[in-house]
Amino acid sequence: MIIKYVTALLAILFFLGATLNAYADENGAPMGKMMHHNMKHSMNDGRVSLNLSPQMKQHQLSNMRSHLEAVQTIISSIAEGDFDKGSEIAHSKLGLTEEMKNMCNMFSNNDFKSLGLAFHESGDVLGDVLKTKDTNKSLRALQTTLGYCVQCHATFRQ
Ligand code: HEC
Repeated sequence: MIIKYVTALLAILFFLGATLNAYADENGAPMGKMMHHNMKHSMNDGRVSLNLSPQMKQHQLSNMRSHLEAVQTIISSIAEGDFDKGSEIAHSKLGLTEEMKNMCNMFSNNDFKSLGLAFHESGDVLGDVLKTKDTNKSLRALQTTLGYCVQCHATFRQ
């Protein structure tokens, strides 16, 4: 009686194990394919490559990190009501300074160049709007500038 019971139990366990394995195989394979697919995508994700030299890459990334830091400082200056400081940072770090103009003009991709120049012009507009000390207007101008960050990152890669 007990032996029969144990045999039946083992049979059920075996059946369950086999079913689970089959399930894992069926669902594991497409998952593997998907990961492979995604990996391929990260190498060529549809964005336009700028084909930069290693030196240009470093320079661009360090510039970018400075842009991000500027945005942080500007947000905190709006929050603290220190609009003059925000304005100064917007003009000097995001605006179309001689340095930024030269930098943008070094790129051979014309679409990238004009997007970069338009971005820096929006930085100067932001600097002017911050001078009005109007929080809503300032946030709207900041949102316009951030739109260029988003647009460019979606379009280009190094
Ligand atoms: C005209 C194009 C353009 C604009 C505008 C732009 N970026 Fe970038 N940014 C790039 C490119 C290209 C990269 C490299 C991305 C890649 O290769 O995947 C990059 C990379 C970055 C990185 C990564 C830095 C690192 O060290 O890895 C940060 C952070 C960044 N950008 C912040 C910003 C912020 C913030 C703004 C706007 C205030 C901005 N960028 C505007 C083109 C742009």
